[in-house]
Amino acid sequence: MFVSFEGCEGVGKSTQLKLLKDYLEATGQHAVYVREPGSTEISEQIRKVILNPQNTAMTDMTEALLYAASRAQLVREVIKPALERGELVVCDRYVDSSIAYQGYARGLGADTIKQINAPAMDGCLPDVTIFLDLRPSQSWRTFKIQDDRMELESSAFHDKVYEGYISEIETSNGRFVRIKPDFDRNVTSQRIIDALRERGAIK
Ligand code: TYD
Repeated sequence: MFVSFEGCEGVGKSTQLKLLKDYLEATGQHAVYVREPGSTEISEQIRKVILNPQNTAMTDMTEALLYAASRAQLVREVIKPALERGELVVCDRYVDSSIAYQGYARGLGADTIKQINAPAMDGCLPDVTIFLDLRPSQSWRTFKIQDDRMELESSAFHDKVYEGYISEIETSNGRFVRIKPDFDRNVTSQRIIDALRERGAIK
């Protein structure tokens, strides 16, 4: 099973991934944990280029192709082999981030992003995608130090990311689970665990 996590900045995604990991470890369930962009030596190098705030001249297409390149490496090196071994893969962001950020917010278009990413993903699409459903204006983003190229984007950009996710979810085949983050992180975590259990991704 392949599970991905998506959402705007500052919605508590890292906290929720950690709580899921704690639950899986406490119940003796093994998983492979990865984050995008990154998680292989080459993908981490690509991550540095993408997120470097000094790279102000980067074109939107370059950015989209770099995310796809990082993904291609991660899929071949880690995700595909793990899925073939029958393992559970939990990925912090995946192709839907590219669709929302590069497709909608940058304006390259969802179809272009899907075309670029098809060879990068090599058939590996998530079985379940948890979307932490919080608008950027309601998120905790403003309280975080913003120090990478994407975080430094305007509020209008991040609003477009949110709208992009929602359009994509509304036209998708039911792979997404929309989870409203609760003020209590444990309540949110339980909602995620219940949703993943219902879909047979975890026990
Ligand atoms: P990261 O620090 O991992 O952010 P977060 O904690 O919010 O997940 O940085 C990843 C950034 O890259 C984040 O701003 C989202 C963005 N991103 C894209 O724009 N496209 C993509 O395909 C991916 C995977 C991430």
